[in-house]
Amino acid sequence: MTTSIIILAAGQGKRMNSAMPKVLQPLAGQPLLQYVLDCATRLAADDVCVVYGHRGSKVRERFSGNRAIRWVLQDQQLGTGHAVNQAMPGTPNENRAVVLYGDVPLLQSNTLKMFLDHCGAEEIGVLTVDVDNPHGYGRIIRENGAVVGMVEESEATEAQKRITEINTGVLCCPARNLKKWLGELTNNNTKGEYYLTDVLGSATQEGIPVRGFKVDNQVEVMGINDKKQLAEAERALQARRAEELLGAGVTLADPARLDIRGELTCGKDVFIDINVIVEGKVLLGDNVRVGANTVVRNSEIGDGTVIRSNSHIEGAVAGARCIVGPFARLRPGSEIADDVRIGNFVEVKKSTIGEGSKVNHLSYVGDASVGSKVNIGAGTITCNYDGANKHHTIIGDGAFIGSGVELVAPVKIGEGATIGAGSSISKDAEPGQLTVERTRQKTVQGWNRPVKKEINVR
Ligand code: UD1
Ligand code: CA
Repeated sequence: MTTSIIILAAGQGKRMNSAMPKVLQPLAGQPLLQYVLDCATRLAADDVCVVYGHRGSKVRERFSGNRAIRWVLQDQQLGTGHAVNQAMPGTPNENRAVVLYGDVPLLQSNTLKMFLDHCGAEEIGVLTVDVDNPHGYGRIIRENGAVVGMVEESEATEAQKRITEINTGVLCCPARNLKKWLGELTNNNTKGEYYLTDVLGSATQEGIPVRGFKVDNQVEVMGINDKKQLAEAERALQARRAEELLGAGVTLADPARLDIRGELTCGKDVFIDINVIVEGKVLLGDNVRVGANTVVRNSEIGDGTVIRSNSHIEGAVAGARCIVGPFARLRPGSEIADDVRIGNFVEVKKSTIGEGSKVNHLSYVGDASVGSKVNIGAGTITCNYDGANKHHTIIGDGAFIGSGVELVAPVKIGEGATIGAGSSISKDAEPGQLTVERTRQKTVQGWNRPVKKEINVR
């Protein structure tokens, strides 16, 4: 049997109070819709259809890389039933239709799979959950234990509002039946919308049983309508990720003070201090330590390397046993070899730094190839930009650059060269020699400091 997953993503999300379509709102750095698509992908569904509408071109653009999506436009947002109906012409009658909501991102694929296995292919099934606060959700109506319908918050009587079993939005139904019932929907309700949830009533009226499948975890199926729920979902997702890391043996100073907005892979005995943000794809080797208030984005950190607090690491590769920070910045294209030291207030960009080299204080190293065992003194700057083009600096192995040096690129410092402090180097420096560029110091004898004039105040 072929499964068509239909994801509803056309709504504006008024309650978000945002110009951004709801399904593009970021959860742990990814749009909400991404999670629902990932869930569908893990299920290996044959057909994944996304119903889009409000500011739809933005939504399509964001997922243009995913060629497997069947996009269906819902021009006007007339309700969830209307939305699903737009996807029906392209869904063969013999398929099993599975509806997911684009604003229910925490649903796990194994829960969905359990639900679909539990409901037979010919059955109509709804995924439900008991919640502490059912406000805003559609309530499940049962008679003698069997699900006979759903009622939306806006239509519910006071008694129905007290029902705590709610509709998660996940529904499965043979496409053939769904088409028929969707065709019969009316919008005679408070909102004037075609509610998908009304199809359950149709099924019951025809004597077709509805299977309700209740999940335990209410967090997994929470719907996100506003920023408050978005923030709650963010914390729930971060808690889930922190728990996974702890399970894998990572030491977290505080699981509640770590944010992973991407994919973090850790070796053995990694320690992560508080307020660390991980973005994109990050790889931490064995025994890596990440200091407090550090951001690491799309980077690879070698075994035993220590990143001290308040550092910002992006698009960088660090070897083993390096010490980076505190307050260091590695920008994209930084490749530091083993045993390198990058100290406080040092910025490295698009540069390679060889084994055992040190840039310890207040320096800028950009567009440079730095050899091994190089020592770069405090306040050294590679002047890589002439206002129009970027130029390269080459520093040979074992060179010693004194403090406060300007290296005006393109320039090459030979192996083992020494550059005197305060030099502005714009020509290549010979290997093994001392090069110094600065005016001779002089003392002006008998010079007097100016003194402040006396002003008479009357
Ligand atoms: C919906 C359900 C409710 C359920 C809750 C679960 C209906 C009528 N109500 O309510 O029973 O408890 O979700 O979270 O289904 N959408 C469209 N086109 C439209 C309207 C909505 O694509 O015309 C999409 C939205 O983008 C969203 C999803 O459908 O992804 C749900 O719509 P929303 O307005 O958030 O419904 P709820 O009020 O949360
Ligand atoms: Ca919703």
